[in-house]
Amino acid sequence: MKDVDPATLSADDWDELHFPRPDENDFDRVVESALSRRGFLGGVLAFGSGAAAMGSGLWGSTSAHAQTASRFAFTPIAAQTDGTVHVPEGYEWKVLMRWGDPLFSEADGYDITDGGPVENSDKIFGENTDGMETFSFQGHQLIAINHEYPNRKINLPAAQEGVPANADDVRKLQNLQGVTVMEIAETPDGWTVVKDSPFNRRIHHNTPMKIVGPAAGHDLLKTEADPTGTTSLGTMNNCGSGKTPWGTYLTCEENFNGYFGSSNESATYTPKVADGFKRYGIKAESWNGYELFDPRFDTSKNPNEPHRVGWVVEIDPTDPNSTPVKHTGLGRFKHENAAVELAKDGRIVVYMGDDERGEYLYKFVSNGLYTPGGDTEGLLDDGTLYVARFNDDMSGEWVPLTPETTGMDEAEILIFARIAASEAGGTTMDRPEWVATSPVLAEAYCCLTNNKNRGVKPNAGGDDTSVNGPNPREANKYGQIVRWRPANQDHAETAFQWDLYVMAGNPTVHSDAYAGSGNVNEGNLFNSPDGMMIDSTGVVWIQTDGNDDNEGDFAGHGNNQMLAGDPMTGEIVRFMTGPNGCEVTGLTWSADRRTMFVGIQHPGGSWPDGGTPRSSIIAIKRKDNGLVG
Ligand code: FEO
Ligand code: CA
Ligand code: CA
Repeated sequence: MKDVDPATLSADDWDELHFPRPDENDFDRVVESALSRRGFLGGVLAFGSGAAAMGSGLWGSTSAHAQTASRFAFTPIAAQTDGTVHVPEGYEWKVLMRWGDPLFSEADGYDITDGGPVENSDKIFGENTDGMETFSFQGHQLIAINHEYPNRKINLPAAQEGVPANADDVRKLQNLQGVTVMEIAETPDGWTVVKDSPFNRRIHHNTPMKIVGPAAGHDLLKTEADPTGTTSLGTMNNCGSGKTPWGTYLTCEENFNGYFGSSNESATYTPKVADGFKRYGIKAESWNGYELFDPRFDTSKNPNEPHRVGWVVEIDPTDPNSTPVKHTGLGRFKHENAAVELAKDGRIVVYMGDDERGEYLYKFVSNGLYTPGGDTEGLLDDGTLYVARFNDDMSGEWVPLTPETTGMDEAEILIFARIAASEAGGTTMDRPEWVATSPVLAEAYCCLTNNKNRGVKPNAGGDDTSVNGPNPREANKYGQIVRWRPANQDHAETAFQWDLYVMAGNPTVHSDAYAGSGNVNEGNLFNSPDGMMIDSTGVVWIQTDGNDDNEGDFAGHGNNQMLAGDPMTGEIVRFMTGPNGCEVTGLTWSADRRTMFVGIQHPGGSWPDGGTPRSSIIAIKRKDNGLVG
């Protein structure tokens, strides 16, 4: 780890530092497992490099299709290592909104010298943009955008080392995270935010929320402030996103554990609460220091408060007075995003990843059917939560999390979904990030971003994390994308077939599986796939959040970037590169698909204006106003 400054540490590095997993003692077992995998890897490597990757049978058309002309309407760009954004020739980009820009004329932009007044801090665009979705409503174009976590040294310039020194500092941090809903419009000068639009809204760590679904009202969700266990304040660590067929926004609470701490290190908890804290990584020391000035985040005083976070939250972007809804039916874990599909019979299917080393991939299937214009109540709560089990023969099944498969009751299965998934025997994954489903084929993809602990340490539940089918490399530093096709082309089916769409790697450095799969080459090097969306033509857009040193194992990878993938041939080409230091995350399109909105999170250097680096949304267009991509 290069950087152990807690004010700048990433959530997963913070977890790793504070909750180190026990070292694997059973060394023989790990080695044996790795050796037994060699046959599998070796067999696949004969097709090119890559375990069960493109062309090894399931979709099986790599070589024939790969010869044909590229389907992309742009010339791929080279890797970059500089401090700005690059797009292909014939395209242009402009900043739409930066952290701190005002949403309302009553607010000044954030003051980068002293942070500005706390009264201002919930009227400006939030920090660290992530998942986002656009909505068309009565002639208005709306965009809902997540703000994942703070950059404390930048956000609290007057506080020493970015450590909150008082309640106002905490409130400022709380106000710059969460979600922004805002109206946008295209003008002759490009896209702009409609200041003072009645749709503009900030949702943050103190916004009232409803809690619904099978776990709502459970004792583990009750607090002194909310003895009903059905209302809470705030949504936090909003990572990826989703969109329902009925036009609402889904925001996903990821590394919520780091927001809680304890003023009493020797506080004791019931065994159930203590087990949950252990599995979800909640300890006395917090990431952002809220508990010093806001007792809600002090677990010695409010041991159930962390149970009220870690959910998927639904927001109606068309109604600025609506109360966001936390859906307990979708389970509690470190939610990356929520990819919503319709089953053949109209049931709602939601695919969701839990982004931590060795955690699981989930899906929810509703009991009720969706009908356009019909009642949607219960569709995201009344149903079954499943965990994915991947078999080495490239088959798989979704295992229902029920009292029978887990030995737990329904509400606790949802509140402690990780523990339920372990009990049910899911497959431990290499940090599931975004899931994307295809609008043109019944298939889904999940970015498995990387996992240095694969084959090295068990997960937080002590589950076996030896190499397995879709996670075939020990100490996986590059990541891969797994995809699956449900039986009968129906996302509600429990059986599926899977393959690896790509294994990232570096063929200029390695000649074994770390070279990557056959569709990785010197011209498209990348690592740590994370954000992902599939557009209406089926192109797979892949965003990265990885090592941008451009040295050693990562030589030639350059800055974090966005690539486009052909689902049929496996061809992957580079479309965009971000400024150094940044993560590229969040992708959506204007209603006419002639503009692509992309998020640049935590840029380094001085992007975009030559001063303090500011997370921003950019709008990318073709200069001839053609369709993007
Ligand atoms: Fe917030 Fe897993 O990325
Ligand atoms: Ca992510
Ligand atoms: Ca990531």
